[in-house]
Amino acid sequence: MKRVWHEWHARILAEELCARARFRHTPGVMITRRTPQPEQRSASDPLGAPESSQVKQHARAHFEKWAHSYDRSWLNELVFFPSVRVCQEEITRWQAARGDQPFRMLDVGCGTGSLLALLAGDPRAELLVGLDYAEAMVRRAAEKFSHSERAGRPHAVRGDSERLPFADQTFDVVTCCNSLHHYPHQAQAMGGFRRILRPGGLLVLIDGFRDNVIGWLVFDVGVALVEKHVHHASWSELRGMLHEAGFVDVHQRKKNVLAPLLVNVARRAD
Ligand SMILES: C[S@@+](CC[C@H](N)C(=O)[O-])C[C@H]1O[C@@H](n2cnc3c(N)ncnc32)[C@H](O)[C@@H]1O
Repeated sequence: MKRVWHEWHARILAEELCARARFRHTPGVMITRRTPQPEQRSASDPLGAPESSQVKQHARAHFEKWAHSYDRSWLNELVFFPSVRVCQEEITRWQAARGDQPFRMLDVGCGTGSLLALLAGDPRAELLVGLDYAEAMVRRAAEKFSHSERAGRPHAVRGDSERLPFADQTFDVVTCCNSLHHYPHQAQAMGGFRRILRPGGLLVLIDGFRDNVIGWLVFDVGVALVEKHVHHASWSELRGMLHEAGFVDVHQRKKNVLAPLLVNVARRAD
């Protein structure tokens, strides 16, 4: 399969300016200037190549259309929402070890905001932010969040996972569920996750497990055929990317829901 996602990078300055405008008044969140960050550069990822932008626009168009029915879809019921629950369990386990300390969390590729809505009632959640590339998804998430108690209400923001518009070390937890396979520059995205995490901070990353026959058929054949320009990284590829980006204590496991999922839990090195 043609893996064009390896070669490009998008410029979405306008969208990020929009994200910053929304966020300007959120206490404690600093939106950074969108000059290229170190994580956005690498020999294999030249900035500004147009194909990257096309891939992201393709993913975006797909989710703009899907947003209104996403929560009711069988895929959400049987795959995405169960994986969101797994992510919540990981956060709960991590929290239990930290006692009652408050935490700040970003959910990258948050979709309709299911994960943050589950956490909205947690009194320790000092700041909950969801970021997504598709405007319609962000709107759905914002609607969902508007039902939360004002004190713990999450924020939804439009932005690109590969150019996170937050200051270094803003968050204690970064999550990314069922979204990474859409990113043209996955290693670069990991670098960004690390940058905005505080030392010792938690990363929970869940995506399709494609290292057995069922996973390969579902993700590398089925999903790739329908969604196009996606890449489900293998177990070892993800492990390598996490280490390379500066994560430690990397734990990976397979979790079977309707399809197999790869659950990755890691900490930013101190
Ligand atoms: C399958 S949905 C998963 C949503 C949610 N995390 C969940 O598990 O229900 C994938 C999401 O990733 C988002 N996405 C794709 N590419 C993105 C990018 N470059 N930056 C941010 N979000 C992106 C899509 O818009 C979509 O909402």
